[in-house]
Amino acid sequence: MGTTIRQAASEEAAALAELASVTFALACPPGSAPEDIAAFIATHLTAESFARYLGDPSRAVFVAEEHGPAAAATPGGSARRGARLAGYSMLVDAPPSDADVAAAVGGGAAVELSKCYARPHVHGTGLTAGLMAASLAWAATRGAEQVWLGVNGENARARKFYEKHGFRVAGSKRFQLGNRVEHDHVMVRPVQS
Ligand SMILES: CC(C)(COP(=O)(O)OP(=O)(O)OC[C@H]1O[C@@H](n2cnc3c(N)ncnc32)[C@H](O)[C@@H]1OP(=O)(O)O)[C@@H](O)C(=O)NCCC(=O)NCCS
Repeated sequence: MGTTIRQAASEEAAALAELASVTFALACPPGSAPEDIAAFIATHLTAESFARYLGDPSRAVFVAEEHGPAAAATPGGSARRGARLAGYSMLVDAPPSDADVAAAVGGGAAVELSKCYARPHVHGTGLTAGLMAASLAWAATRGAEQVWLGVNGENARARKFYEKHGFRVAGSKRFQLGNRVEHDHVMVRPVQS
């Protein structure tokens, strides 16, 4: 099965929403309430949300697409395209609005790696390294000096992944899921390493 990493097309909002709805919970700490996860998805990860993200010139969405009949036949697959989306990343080129993030990131232009999610069957296959490479390359084209992200402290796999790709914990920030306030790590890396 082949894989392509590319920027998402404007007509892929619904496919991205399907992918996001099945991968968002993977990043939530154990004990997160299912209704809080569902509410977050309904507010931020719908096809309408992704249509907005895809139309926003300060954002970029990259996808990893698997090709072949097996991929096309699985949930989220498209027989017409003979493929399905297996992972995605989203970047935001805007100054951090959160004071804790701004303090962690310091001065200089910074791009946020706002989302990086893949279906479980591709974890550990190297597919997400391709998403990371495309994401960092986009940050460079925007003239950013640094890339930052927030990751839940209990998400050990993601944290190790980001460390492998040159990110270091530089601070923390609050992330609200329902009534629970999570304390995410803020991780930062220079665009050029
Ligand atoms: C985060 C994510 C994109 C990383 O992609 P991936 O393909 O799983 O990453 P990799 O396998 O290259 O790297 C993960 C590393 O963590 C290690 N790891 C796995 N489980 C671990 C654990 N419980 N504790 C510590 N390290 C762990 C892996 O062995 C691997 O290290 P290695 O390459 O040295 O063996 C992917 O796991 C994912 O989509 N997770 C669910 C969504 C998510 O959490 N997104 C991040 C939101 S901030």
